[in-house]
Amino acid sequence: MTAPLLETRNLSKQFIVGSRFSSLGLRVVHAVDNVSLKIMPGETVGLVGESGCGKSTLGRCITRLYDITAGELYFEGVDISDKSMRQMRPLRRRMQMVFQDPYASLNPRRRVRDLIAEPLRVHLNLGETEVRERVSKLLDVVGLSPDHMERFPHEFSGGQRQRIGIARAIALEPSLIVADEPVSALDVSVQAQIVNLLADLQERLSLTYVFIAHDLSVVRQISTRIAVMYLGSIVELGLARDIFARPSHPYTQALISAVPQPDLKRAGERKRIILTGDVPSPIDPPQGCRFHPRCIYATDKCRKERPILLPLPNGRTVACHYPLNGTV
Ligand SMILES: Nc1ncnc2c1ncn2[C@@H]1O[C@H](COP(=O)(O)OP(=O)(O)O)[C@@H](O)[C@H]1O
Ligand code: SF4
Ligand SMILES: [Mg+2]
Repeated sequence: MTAPLLETRNLSKQFIVGSRFSSLGLRVVHAVDNVSLKIMPGETVGLVGESGCGKSTLGRCITRLYDITAGELYFEGVDISDKSMRQMRPLRRRMQMVFQDPYASLNPRRRVRDLIAEPLRVHLNLGETEVRERVSKLLDVVGLSPDHMERFPHEFSGGQRQRIGIARAIALEPSLIVADEPVSALDVSVQAQIVNLLADLQERLSLTYVFIAHDLSVVRQISTRIAVMYLGSIVELGLARDIFARPSHPYTQALISAVPQPDLKRAGERKRIILTGDVPSPIDPPQGCRFHPRCIYATDKCRKERPILLPLPNGRTVACHYPLNGTV
């Protein structure tokens, strides 16, 4: 069996907020709570959930932009849970992030040439001619022209800026890219172009993706598997096409029912489930099933006992006492 490219075992990340001197004192934000996930080479795992569910925090833990609070993290078979920033440096090349807002992550005062050359200079110690050649090739690969090299980020459209962000991310030939809402800030027509570019690059460069998005229709296009997060934990994990056809967790069902489905044959059969209220605070999460205050199927058991993630006969892994569509 192939080994996972990346694996988290009971990974948790907590933030301490507040002040010792305020009436509420110091409080713990359970942003990511006990996540165990294997990501196989060449696949795209879509990480979905409403805003505040811990997707970005998990993405940043996976790439070790954040230290993790508890649990283990393996990348290419190496335990990187406790590696220092210095020890991470050689591995950094192999795992890159693409962010939602390329404008915020690109220094506005630097030319595209230097923005893309920066990782090459820092990590590869290449001569200037070679750097220039590589930058030119990278621009071509992401669908920009070598003429764009001398321009500044503000001279580009949102979609073009995201292409620059992608060129930077692939410059060092990584094996893993964590893309955090990479198309959420773009017009719908441009979103498709960027998703297509990412899919094309995946094939050409044998990339593995973690694709974070709150918009399920985007995730469906590109993902092999989907991990649904709620309040810091994975509540459903499985093949994307199965999950979209027959969600097993009530939260997934609610998320999917909110997606416009003009293209789906069975759209007429779908009951639209409105998610009421907001995601509760991860500072003081609900007892029992964390989704119970918003779940239309909740019982007394749900209010008392927290369900654990378990495999179902349908191939899904689900944390719910009463999973939907559980049989094959
Ligand atoms: N640096 C931080 N300090 C304190 N709380 C944070 C920090 N980053 C994220 N959080 C909190 O952790 C939770 C998860 O946030 P995030 O990972 O950004 O979710 P998502 O990406 O799914 O919207 C939220 O409640 C958020 O407010
Ligand atoms: S355990 Fe209960 S409250 Fe939680 S999702 Fe399942 S049915 Fe809903
Ligand atoms: Mg986020």
